[in-house]
Parts: sequence; structure tokens; C-alpha cells
Amino acid sequence: MYPTLKPIVRWVGSALAVTALTSSVALAQNTGKLKVGFMLPYTGTFAALGIAIENGFRQHVTELGGKVAGREVEYFKVDDESEPSKATDNVNKLIKRDQVDVIIGTVHSGVAMAMAKAAKESGTLLIVPNAGADAVTGAMCAPNIFRSSFSNWQPGYAMGEVMAKKGIKKVVTITWKYAAGDESVKAFKESFEKGGGTVVKELSLPFPNVEFQGLLTEIAATKPDAVFTFFAGGGAVKFVKDYAAAGLKANIPLYGSGFLTDGIIDAEGPAAEGILTTLHYADSLNTKRDNAFRLTYAKTFRMQPDVYAVQGYDAAQMLSIGLNATKGDATKAVDISAALRKATIDSPRGPFTISASHNPVQDFYLRQASDKEKENKVVGMASAKLADPGRGCKM
Ligand code: BEZ
Repeated sequence: MYPTLKPIVRWVGSALAVTALTSSVALAQNTGKLKVGFMLPYTGTFAALGIAIENGFRQHVTELGGKVAGREVEYFKVDDESEPSKATDNVNKLIKRDQVDVIIGTVHSGVAMAMAKAAKESGTLLIVPNAGADAVTGAMCAPNIFRSSFSNWQPGYAMGEVMAKKGIKKVVTITWKYAAGDESVKAFKESFEKGGGTVVKELSLPFPNVEFQGLLTEIAATKPDAVFTFFAGGGAVKFVKDYAAAGLKANIPLYGSGFLTDGIIDAEGPAAEGILTTLHYADSLNTKRDNAFRLTYAKTFRMQPDVYAVQGYDAAQMLSIGLNATKGDATKAVDISAALRKATIDSPRGPFTISASHNPVQDFYLRQASDKEKENKVVGMASAKLADPGRGCKM
């Protein structure tokens, strides 16, 4: 009359077993090793930047005892060579082959855009520790994509305001023809022209070309009041030296986003002396937080830290804040986002917050390069708590 209890017991038993299995898999996912994939340039003009980012990231993980949200960290590495045409294949090595929980990368804006696309499609957590491509926290924004650095818009916009306030009227811009250069110049132009200045000529050359001679001759012939530029890494060293060697430095002051001199003052030598730049970091902040960071970095890696090291360090801080909120689960993007949106990151650069589109809201310092002291010295505040407009971001 009554159905036998046996099948029900069997069903309940197997349902419990499935539940136990699922939660033990989930537990293993949250308690096993945390796979961190670095996709950074380890060769080419940005190689030193990639190394500094990795060093900074490792420094904070070491401070955490080698664990993030209780999970021991295991590292995977891919050299992206700052080569956009290889970026999709490279990022898929980390996503599909190594099945990492989080990707930390990269430096080059063009490579970062391919990474953001792959992260968006796969749902893998991505923290960008340098590349400023506006779209990453603009039109391509997503709950699982964050940046610990800056958008290309930010330092360019800050410098446009500074130069307009100085009463500079006619400017020539010069940069590499790719997203970072184009977007820096566009943002510079936006605030500089709003402030009454005019960009009279926009010069560029393909990335990572360093044959500047023809363009320097054109600057000399145009005779602007000043030059605004975006270059970084090895290319910036060559540009700053060539600009001085061409005899332009004394008559046409050179300005730029801070990548022009950050971390490379030694290599640039006297050619860098006096150059004014805008950036969210400087060597002479002289705060307790930054001094402690710099001392540990110098002792550990036997080199001085720079903005790239700070951005790597803060990528690890952001990862830790996000994963502490999800008990180590890197797949819970919405919860990670909520935790980071209400956090204040205690960065060596100074405290910063994260915008709705996941980009730092931070101070931009006006810095002056000193060859004698081998430092980018803070000489003023260019733009306090500057927030990227996050254009096109719908989350
Ligand atoms: C970029 O490609 O976004 C970039 C590269 C080096 C320094 C700053 C920005």
C-alpha cells in the first residue's frame, strides 16, 4: 500500500552525497592554493616595469605570510613581450592551461585590452597593475576587472590643467602611436584647451620605435612654448636624452606624464634635470607608509622602487581585500567588487579609493626631476582625488 521507503532513503542519501561533494569541491576551491598568474613584459622596452610590478606584488604577499585570504599563493608566469598580436594566446595560457584564479597584468595598453576581453568572457578575476587603456575601466568594464594603477586619461588631464594655469599657450605633443599615447594626448588636450591653450601639432611614431630625430627637427621648426609627451621605459630614456642632445631642452621646456622619468632618472642622467611631470607617485613623499615600503623593497630586491612597484604592491593589497570578503573565493566578482568599492587602500602613494568602474580615485602630484638627488621630487599637488570619468562603463 505504501511505497517502500528504500528508494526515498537512497535518493536522500545520494542527494546528501552530491551536496557534500559539491561543498567539498567548493571548499577545495577556496582553501587550496591560490593560483596567481602574472602576465607581464619580461623582455623588450617595458621589461623593467614588469619586474618591478612582480616584485611589488610579491612584497605584499610576503608581508601576508605567503597567503592571501588564508590560501597559500602559487605563481604562474607568462612574458607578454608588450606584443598585442600575441596577447589572446598568452592570456589563454593562464586561463585555460594553468586555470589560474586571478591574473595580474599588464603594462601595455594594447595587450591589456585583449586581456580584459578574455577576462570578461571567461569570468576570471583580472587586476591590471599598470596599463592605462581607458576602455578597461570604461566601455569594457566588468565586475571581475579592476585596476590598481591609473587610466591614461588621469595623468594627461592633470598635466593639461597645470600647463594651462602656467599660462603656456602653444604646445606640440609627441608620443607613441598606440592607445596609451593617443589617450594621454587626448586627455591633455581636453583640459589644456579648456584652460585656454592650443595644441598646434600632434607628432607620433609607432610603438616601440625610438628614431626621434626627424620629429625633434619638426619641433625645433615649429617653435612651440612647450612640449607635452608620453613615453615610458627604455623608450623614455632615449627620448629624454635625444631631446637634450638636440639642444631643445633649454628653449622649449619638456613636460609629460610621470612615466617619462619615473624609475629611470639614473639612466637619463643630466638630460632629465628639471623636467616637470604629473603622476600618482613620487620618490620624495616622505610619509611613514612610503618610507617603510621603500626600505623593505630596497633591502629585498637591491634596487629602488618606482611607481610600477607600488602598483604591483597595491594589486596584492586589492586582491587581499577582495578575497577576504569572499573567504578566498575568486569567482565571487560581485562581492569582491562591493568590498573594494567601500575600501580605502592604504597605499605607499597615499590612500586611494576605487571608483564605480573599478579605477583608482587618487591624488596626482606635480613632480620635478632632480638628477643630483636622483629623485622625482613633489613640488605641488596637480589634481587631488582625481577620478577617471569612466566613459562608456555600464556594469
Ligand atoms: C600603457 O601602455 O598603458 C603604459 C605603458 C607604460 C607606462 C604607462 C602606461
